[in-house]
Amino acid sequence: MGQTHTIRMRLSRQPVEIVVGSGHLNQLGSRLRRMALGTHPILLSNPNILRRHGKAIQKALRRVGGPVATLTVADTEQSKSLPSLSRLLSALAKLDGPGKRPFLVLAGGGVVGDLGGVAAGLYKRGIPYVQLPTTLLAQVDSAIGGKTAVDLPQGKNLVGLIVQPRLIFVESKFLETLPERQFRSGLAEVAKGGIIRDAALFKALEKSSTQQLRKGADRLSWALYRAMRVKAAVVEQDEFETKGIRTILNLGHTFGHALETASGYRRAYTHGEAVAVGIRVAADMSKSLGLISACSADRIRSLLRHLGLPVTFRGVRLADITRAMSHDKKWFTGRNRWVLPTGIGRCTVKENIPAHVITKAIRGAWEG
Ligand SMILES: NC(=O)c1ccc[n+]([C@@H]2O[C@H](COP(=O)([O-])OP(=O)(O)OC[C@H]3O[C@@H](n4cnc5c(N)ncnc54)[C@H](O)[C@@H]3O)[C@@H](O)[C@H]2O)c1
Ligand SMILES: [Zn+2]
Repeated sequence: MGQTHTIRMRLSRQPVEIVVGSGHLNQLGSRLRRMALGTHPILLSNPNILRRHGKAIQKALRRVGGPVATLTVADTEQSKSLPSLSRLLSALAKLDGPGKRPFLVLAGGGVVGDLGGVAAGLYKRGIPYVQLPTTLLAQVDSAIGGKTAVDLPQGKNLVGLIVQPRLIFVESKFLETLPERQFRSGLAEVAKGGIIRDAALFKALEKSSTQQLRKGADRLSWALYRAMRVKAAVVEQDEFETKGIRTILNLGHTFGHALETASGYRRAYTHGEAVAVGIRVAADMSKSLGLISACSADRIRSLLRHLGLPVTFRGVRLADITRAMSHDKKWFTGRNRWVLPTGIGRCTVKENIPAHVITKAIRGAWEG
């Protein structure tokens, strides 16, 4: 077992620990037993993850004491829907009974984590749940912060709760089976953490190749830990997203979401790839506005390229990007808001950015 790192988040109801390490999955059961979350752990996952890691996870959970029940959902974003939430709640009710205190362990990416979190928040007005994220995106981002949601036909994440897990247990070895492209995409969120708040993380990423991160368990655990620390600190300051601080986690996402939407059904860009192009666009806007030096903006773009992420886009019409970004007609004449990097490890939130600054930066990243 390599080194483990612990982050303690002070939140409104109770503190939540994030434990990150490599080869420490066997510690999960005893930790859960000590926490006394309940009598019956219920593992929620999907067949793809269970095939790869199911046995090891179930073995770890058996150390809690009682039997381990396993529920699965289909391996698709469609599992984040009201029908699958309803099926999951019924399955929980069937497993529950007199004298039982069930709790959920959510082993998967953002889909399993988001769906399972809503179910844990709603079933019997709330049962404890644990995040056991298995994708890089889930480990550094979606498993932390308590945002849970399912989608409606009208849009993504429209029904949900902010309800905190009792533990976030991060095993970096899960990432060994993650496809290369998914791994790189997750690195965009790691880099984002460095850019907005952690210059040391940024510098460490500049010095490591994606291959070194994939293969070097300690190097990877450290980078994960630093990125999680950024997210955890921001969540601590603004748990319910009422103070505007959590906004900075959206660096690269205004443009990124628009690129995902505009290239839609073809899935030409993963979330992380779209965010990487979005970070480059934000850095260019910041440079135009005189908020960041040309040198720092160049370093940001170089880091993304170095991690194997795109910083330009193609195959999408600019008009489609613009349409996806502007929620109303006034968006371009004032009502817009951007997270802009102001240096390495620093950022700011700006509103009312002139249209010509936005379009110039987007055109600069467009390859036709
Ligand atoms: N709650 C939040 O704060 C938050 C933040 C960001 C994203 N999200 C949500 O997260 C979702 C995306 O999450 P995601 O990118 O993790 O996608 P995902 O959950 O769909 O997982 C991606 C793919 O990787 C597979 N997989 C998972 N772990 C694996 C492993 N260790 N080895 C091999 N394959 C593995 C999955 O089966 C799936 O096919 C979206 O629905 C998004 O809305 C939520
Ligand atoms: Zn994201």
